[in-house]
Amino acid sequence: MKHLINTADFDTDEILTLFERAKRFKEGYINPTLEGQLIITIFFENSTRTRSSFEVAAKRLGAEVVSLDVAKSSSSKGETLFDTAANLDAMDPAAIIVRHQNAGVPEILSGYVTCPIVNGGDGAHAHPTQALLDLFTIMEQFPDPRGKRIAIVGDIKNSRVANSNIELLSRFGLEITLVAPPHFMPRIDAYRKTHYLDEILDEVDIIMSLRTQTERHTNQIYASLKDYATDFCITAERIGDRDIMLMHPGPVNRNIDIDDAMLADPRCKVLEQVKNGVFVRMAVLEHLIA
Ligand code: CP
Repeated sequence: MKHLINTADFDTDEILTLFERAKRFKEGYINPTLEGQLIITIFFENSTRTRSSFEVAAKRLGAEVVSLDVAKSSSSKGETLFDTAANLDAMDPAAIIVRHQNAGVPEILSGYVTCPIVNGGDGAHAHPTQALLDLFTIMEQFPDPRGKRIAIVGDIKNSRVANSNIELLSRFGLEITLVAPPHFMPRIDAYRKTHYLDEILDEVDIIMSLRTQTERHTNQIYASLKDYATDFCITAERIGDRDIMLMHPGPVNRNIDIDDAMLADPRCKVLEQVKNGVFVRMAVLEHLIA
């Protein structure tokens, strides 16, 4: 049995096979390979995209979906996370998808269940299916991504999306530049780093903007997000007519991460990422279960 805790759980050939399958799903291929199976989602942290995307993916494959309402679950009566997982596992699901505010929870839970655990995002650690759908979206535009230059911009240190993408995109040969103010820059030396967004605009093929994750900050870094936006917002004025693919995992803080004009620009692939997320997650669920 295989779990998906971080992107390294899938080797490169496995990912390319998943992408072939996701591409077929995107072309309209329907195959209810999970008919009669039960998928459970447990989201201890809020989500718009990931939870609904997994649920749509599971339903398109013919599975039944049960979503635990954490606020109304017996966690509030003192039941441990492990007992919650073990009890849901007793209902014989084909997979459990977990999001938790603490890094490491999906991996720990994988020791308490008899079905695959899929990490829907854990603290600042990993968000593997987000990185997979990001790479899939990049490869639609750049079928051979080797040597393509990507700037990951924003609150990198607190971002599970950045962590997962750094592992995956570098494995597929993309050249990564990390662009962040000092407080949001991770302490890793393997990649080019800069505090100045305008410095790299003429050199990149792709920009991946990230949300400023105030919920993970222990103290206030900027007087206001507007100060941050002055230096790091991806604006139409800043980008000009450069041929740059613009990405963001969502949720986007409008006019802080990306301005209104760039969000409406055809170079912006934010909604394409969301669309692709369903197909990639269909391929992931099918791979882990069927
Ligand atoms: N990209 C992402 O994880 O979005 P949600 O928090 O809405 O799931």
